[in-house]
Amino acid sequence: MDILNLLILTLFLSPHFINAFPSPLYSLRSPHICSEVQILPLPGASVVSLQRGEKSAFTLPAAPPLLLDSVSVPSICEINITLTHPAVDDKVNIQVWLPLEEWNGRFVALGGSGWAAGHGPLTLGPAVAGGFAAASTDAGVFADPSSPALWALKENGEVNLGLLTNFASRSVHEMAVIGKAVTESYYGKKPTSYWNGCSTGGRQGLVAAQQYPDDFDRILAGAPAIYWPTYVMAELWPQVVMKEEGIFPSQDELNAVVTAAVAVCDGLDGIQDNVITDLAKCNFDPSSVVGKLNIDGKEVTITSKIASIVKKIWEGPIIDSQRLWYGMPIGAPLDSLANTTLVNGTRAGLPFFVPDTWIRYFIEQDPDFQISSVGSGELGQLFSRSQTEYDNLFNNANPDLSRFQSSGGKLLVWHGEADQLIYPQGSTQYRQCVEKAMGGGSKVDIFFRYFQAPGVDHCGLGSTPGARPSNAFEALIAWVEEGIAPEALKGQTPPSAPAQFTRKICRYPLVPKYRGFGDASSLESFDCVQAS
Ligand SMILES: *[C@@H]1O[C@H](CO)[C@@H](O)[C@H](O)[C@H]1NC(C)=O
Ligand SMILES: *[C@@H]1O[C@H](CO)[C@@H](O)[C@H](O)[C@H]1NC(C)=O
Ligand SMILES: *[C@@H]1O[C@H](CO)[C@@H](O)[C@H](O)[C@H]1NC(C)=O
Repeated sequence: MDILNLLILTLFLSPHFINAFPSPLYSLRSPHICSEVQILPLPGASVVSLQRGEKSAFTLPAAPPLLLDSVSVPSICEINITLTHPAVDDKVNIQVWLPLEEWNGRFVALGGSGWAAGHGPLTLGPAVAGGFAAASTDAGVFADPSSPALWALKENGEVNLGLLTNFASRSVHEMAVIGKAVTESYYGKKPTSYWNGCSTGGRQGLVAAQQYPDDFDRILAGAPAIYWPTYVMAELWPQVVMKEEGIFPSQDELNAVVTAAVAVCDGLDGIQDNVITDLAKCNFDPSSVVGKLNIDGKEVTITSKIASIVKKIWEGPIIDSQRLWYGMPIGAPLDSLANTTLVNGTRAGLPFFVPDTWIRYFIEQDPDFQISSVGSGELGQLFSRSQTEYDNLFNNANPDLSRFQSSGGKLLVWHGEADQLIYPQGSTQYRQCVEKAMGGGSKVDIFFRYFQAPGVDHCGLGSTPGARPSNAFEALIAWVEEGIAPEALKGQTPPSAPAQFTRKICRYPLVPKYRGFGDASSLESFDCVQAS
């Protein structure tokens, strides 16, 4: 090839040049060339590396609880981008997977859980198998869901606020901008853009709606970890209660009280399904079961101290007569936040890793801080320190969603009402704050719908017997693309549930009510009505 032809070809291949011509010339450059995918410059960040390569179809093995079944991943174009921020000295890795064939025209960014901003292939695999272009980021915080130990503190012992900012919000925006640009560069067409995440991923979705309203057209946020500086403190409450009562009950003892409560309140909605549908109606007092309880053939003795512990866990942190957050909903398993362990034959408390690490690294800035020393007085102080120091960065509960609404965004939030980790009342509070800020429930329903799922645990990943939302993402797509605003999600019990049924998961503030005839295990026999 002579030099002139080479020059002409190069000119035609430059995206800038192509954009200057009407569409017929566009086809000169086949858009589907993985090695030519372009990214845009990003203010405040620089690109350290860009890797582009095709990968043939493969099987991604199951990895519960995040990936329950193995997935057949189609052939993809894989893009790895590493960014850095000048004052942070970080390496943020963003991974984008683009199906080579049968792209559905949509881009989805996928959230993380715990201390991880994303889960890479585990969440990318199912998304590209469904035809999406998909992205995941590690936010520069190493993607270890269970601990921030490797990044929380700088060498001088101070909190690494740059990395915390990445984890809190910045990485969500950068993944959106880069993910959408890469997708458009590869397919030659702008995608519609979606967010999908639960827990930390739910929080990230709400961060996008609040702070980066143009990043995603549609957002699905499950069990969002918003109000982090507050609710994470409340996660320590059950440990403080046990410490101050002076006993650490076994899981069998605590769960016996929960099981007894569910048995009493289950039928209040007229249906025996091991699920309390309307928690407000359940006035179960743990002291009513002091004595011997027989649960599933096991005999357990409930002492008045155990009853008092469960009562306080359900009431939530009330310190110096001030309510600092909500209590654990009745029906939620107590084995995570009120976990205990045997140490040399003696039962001791075992704090959940999120409050444990949050307090040690971000509040005390001392990895050796003894969480077991925290009583209710200290917990009250930790609440206020956590809020004072981190609400600005990490509360992520701004109720003003007007910019998101005016950019055409749609938001679907759901939360299990037996969530054992993130108090579901927080999501209800957020929804109510948005209603107050934006003119009432019917105005908010135009672009933000909230679904409460009775009897469902954290992100529906555990084994509580309630019906989990099975079509939340499909409902979000249909809301936009078919104009069907979701009234109810389809709920399906997990395989481990003692009774199998489908159930309507109603849009807030409605609750499912049995029609009084027909198959009670089918969602068709229920209506969504105002709670009585
Ligand atoms: C992207 O990064 C992953 C994980 O490090 C690696 O396995 C993969 O080969 C990289 N892809 C490309 C195209 O270099
Ligand atoms: C409770 O603690 C034990 C360790 O003693 C651990 O194996 C178990 O996973 C914990 N349970 C929950 C639900 O976190
Ligand atoms: C358990 O007991 C042994 C022997 O008395 C002792 O050396 C050890 O420190 C104890 N462990 C804990 C965690 O208390």
